Amino acid sequence: MKEYKPFVKDLQALVAGFQGRNDLQWKEKAISSINGLASHELRSRVPLEERRSSGAFFTDTLLGSEILNSYKLTFGNRVVFYDPACGAGNLLISAKSHYEKQLSQKRVRLEVSGTDIHSEFIDASKLRLSIFDLLHQNPAKDYSEQFIVTNGLQPNLFYESATHIFTNPPFNQIEASRSIKWATGKVSAAALFIDAIINNTNPGTEIIAILPDVLRSGSRYQKWRAHVSKYCEIDNIKLLGQFDSFTDVDVFSVMLKKKNLATEESNHDWNTSVVNPSKVSDFFDVSVGTVVDNRDPHEGIKRPYLISRGLKGWTELRHTDLKRKHKGKMIKSPFVVVKRTSRHGDNHRAIATLVVMPEPVYVDNHLIVLKPLKGGIKACKKLLKSLKSQSTDKWIDDQIRCRHLTVKVVAEIPFFDL
Ligand SMILES: C[S@@+](CC[C@H](N)C(=O)[O-])C[C@H]1O[C@@H](n2cnc3c(N)ncnc32)[C@H](O)[C@@H]1O
Repeated sequence: MKEYKPFVKDLQALVAGFQGRNDLQWKEKAISSINGLASHELRSRVPLEERRSSGAFFTDTLLGSEILNSYKLTFGNRVVFYDPACGAGNLLISAKSHYEKQLSQKRVRLEVSGTDIHSEFIDASKLRLSIFDLLHQNPAKDYSEQFIVTNGLQPNLFYESATHIFTNPPFNQIEASRSIKWATGKVSAAALFIDAIINNTNPGTEIIAILPDVLRSGSRYQKWRAHVSKYCEIDNIKLLGQFDSFTDVDVFSVMLKKKNLATEESNHDWNTSVVNPSKVSDFFDVSVGTVVDNRDPHEGIKRPYLISRGLKGWTELRHTDLKRKHKGKMIKSPFVVVKRTSRHGDNHRAIATLVVMPEPVYVDNHLIVLKPLKGGIKACKKLLKSLKSQSTDKWIDDQIRCRHLTVKVVAEIPFFDL
C-alpha cells in the first residue's frame, strides 16, 4: 500500500503542526482527517484491484457510530476495544467518539488497539488517533504499542486483553486452513476472522462486526453460522444494505457475546433475529395502478399513461409519449412505480422507476405505485436504492417464490435507509 504513504506524511505534518485548538485552519484539517478523508485518500490513491486483493474498504465513521447506536454494550471498569483488521482506524475512532466522554465521567479509561497487515494503515491509525486526542482536549498519546502490523487471524495479546471487538474484517476470498471445521477451500476472510476472534478472545467479550450478507443468508455458510451460535450469544442483526456508494456488497451488523461454555451446535435463525425497524409502507402509500387497459373506456381527460412494458428500471422517467383518456385516479409526481411481474433473468425482484413528470399521469394496473408520505424526490431515491439491494431480493425470495408481486408484499418490504 505504498500509494497510501503521502497521506500518512500529511497526517504526520498535521500532528507536528499542532499549536493549539484555536488554530482554526488546523482544526478544520484535523476534523476532516479523522472523518471521511482516510477513505477518500484510499479510494483515490490505491487502485481498486489492490484494494480488493487485501479487502481494504474502510467503514464510514458515521456508519460506525450508527452501528454502535443500535447495540447496548456492557462496560466494566476496564474497557479495551480492539479491531484486528483496523485499516486507518475508523471504527476505533467511532468507538472513542461514541463512548470516551461517557466512560470518563465514570472514571473509566477507554483504550483502543488495532492490527493490520499494511504498515501504512497502522501508521495512519496511530496518527489519526493522536489527532482525535488533540482535537478532544487530551494530550496526544503515543499509540506505538497499541497498533502493530500483524496478521489478525493469528493469536495475539490484544485479543486477550480486549473487552470489546469492533471490526469490519476483509471480505476477500481466501483458503481456509485445515483446522477449520465448518468449511474447506476458499471462503470469505470475514468468516475466518470471526472464527479467529471466537478462538482468541475471553468469554464475555462483546463483538460487534460488519459482515457481508452472504454469511447471514448463504447456504454455504450454514455450518459457519452454527459454529458461531455454538460459541456466542447472538444479539440483534441489522441489515445495512450496500456497504457504501462505491462498494456494491450488501452487509449486516451483528453483536456477539462469547459464551462461557460452548453449547450444543445450534441453528440460531439468522433471519428472524433481524431487526428491521422500518418497512416501505412506513414511508410510502402503496397501491396498484388503476387503469385496466382492455376494460376501461377511453373517456375523460387525456393524460400521459404509464405501462410496465418498456419501462426501464432504476431510472428517472421525465416524459412518456403514451397518452390515454381515463376517468379514474391520476397521480402526481414524484412517485415510484414497481413492476408487478419480473421476468426470468431479471437481476432484481422489485424493479423500480422514479417518476418525475411535470403533469399528473394515469398508471396501468401492472404497476405498483409508491407515493412518498413525505420527503418527495429524496425519499423516492432512497427507496430505489433500498429496493435495488440484494437484501431486498433475498427478503422477497424468502416471502414468495412466484415472480408476481402484490401490494401487501411490497408494503412489507424492509426499508433500508442507505
Ligand atoms: C474492510 S477493511 C476495514 C478496515 C477498518 N476495520 C474499517 O472498518 O475501516 C479490512 C482491513 O483488513 C486488512 N487486512 C486484510 N487481511 C488482514 C489480515 N490477515 N490481518 C490483519 N489485517 C488484514 C486490510 O488491510 C484492511 O485494512
